[in-house]
Amino acid sequence: MAVVDPARASREPEPGPPVSPLAPPGSRLPRPLSALLFLLAPQPTLRMLQRRHGDLFSVWTPVFGQVAVAAGPELVKRVFQASPDVLSFGETSPLGEILGPGSLFAMDDSRHLRERRLILPAFHGERMRGYEDVIEEEARREMAGWAEGEEFPTLPSFMRITLAAIIRTVFGAQGSDGSELADVLPPLVTIGSRLALLRPLRRDLGPRSPGGRFRRLRARYDAIVDRLIDAGRADPALESREDVMAMLMRAHYDDGERMSRTAIADELLTLLAAGHETTATTLAWGVERLRRHPDLLARLAAEARTGEGRELRVATIHELQRSRPVIPATSRCARVDFPLGGWTVPRGRQIIVSASLIHHDPRFFADPERFDPGRFLARGVDTYTWIPFGGGTRRCPGAAFAHMEMDIVLRTLLREFTLEPTRRRGERLRDRGIANAPARGGLAVVHRRRPG
Ligand code: HEM
Repeated sequence: MAVVDPARASREPEPGPPVSPLAPPGSRLPRPLSALLFLLAPQPTLRMLQRRHGDLFSVWTPVFGQVAVAAGPELVKRVFQASPDVLSFGETSPLGEILGPGSLFAMDDSRHLRERRLILPAFHGERMRGYEDVIEEEARREMAGWAEGEEFPTLPSFMRITLAAIIRTVFGAQGSDGSELADVLPPLVTIGSRLALLRPLRRDLGPRSPGGRFRRLRARYDAIVDRLIDAGRADPALESREDVMAMLMRAHYDDGERMSRTAIADELLTLLAAGHETTATTLAWGVERLRRHPDLLARLAAEARTGEGRELRVATIHELQRSRPVIPATSRCARVDFPLGGWTVPRGRQIIVSASLIHHDPRFFADPERFDPGRFLARGVDTYTWIPFGGGTRRCPGAAFAHMEMDIVLRTLLREFTLEPTRRRGERLRDRGIANAPARGGLAVVHRRRPG
């Protein structure tokens, strides 16, 4: 991850040729048609505009209106390194509005940095080792129910594993509180992600309306978090607990203040919303890709079973995230007229950083449609061309957690099962609201390995 000094990276003039005061060029189609094309076929539309206008162009989108799309490493670097007083995120984040004012997604500036400082230690690479056993236990428990020889979608299983993992490692919850969280959290996040985009539906028009259901689920969620906080305060072992909630309860900001109950509730919900579906859909893409690459599958199985090294598995996860980025883009909002790539992005306009375009660009990845983890064995990943976790001061704080979790779940699968290869064409992509998933849920046919 690039280390960004926000104070320094602010209003520095753009290097290179003079900057036009005009917005980046783009589609000349009427707005409704442009928005419809984007809605029906986002990737082909973006690719076509990039071919015509270069790595920075404008397009009309249904949610944000006119946006600028950045699809080259120099542009990405400039966007990710810009100071938050130049490019913001929280003030225009629809997800932040839904998750609450205590969510990282809703914050900007010093409040955001102060909150990240509190949260980042909980996701430090070394702490992740302590969670590995929990993940393996949850993966084994779920996979014990897999039927042999029958085709089934793996995504629901991966959703259950990643949900259980977050309930235990992030919320530190077990027993009835854990089960109630498992009931409440998935519908809360699903409805919330829809309401994030459909503002008029947010009003509470009774228990059956989307706004009403959301409000009632949120009230149940807050009550569980309240109980967990009370139990934590009464727990003599709180100091030695490893879960994220216990860490947040122990932590305090630089001025000595502690996190409030609602701040903890908003933040834990944020971690769940950001970390559950994203990790599960990437794993489902893993099954979808590996069944179509039997040689790689055999090498991965051998690596997992000997227990010696995990280089190929790590490279495979990198390649999965390159070729099937489940969050295809991230965005920032220009707070001032922002010079970028020789053009000026007007104040108030969103800049979309497109991981999908960059990850499939042959200038940065030879033969980009080929699934080839080997490309990451030799050279690792680059900060501005491999961007599934975004970048700069907003880079995903859960990246190490997600990698640890995907590594352990894949290892368990490869050790316990053989996966039947298939010659069927790849699954298409389906937008689930938070992340992109294989349309058929990452179909698998498995056989349990016999000892010996
Ligand atoms: C494969 C799994 C994941 C992917 C692909 C992913 C991707 C992303 C992306 C693209 C962003 C926006 C970054 C930016 O705008 O520069 C983000 C932010 C975030 N992610 Fe993740 N994420 C994953 C897993 C997780 C996990 C496991 C957690 C926590 C348990 C998590 C917590 C967050 C949070 C809290 C933010 C907001 C950061 C901020 O605004 O400062 N993510 N993630």
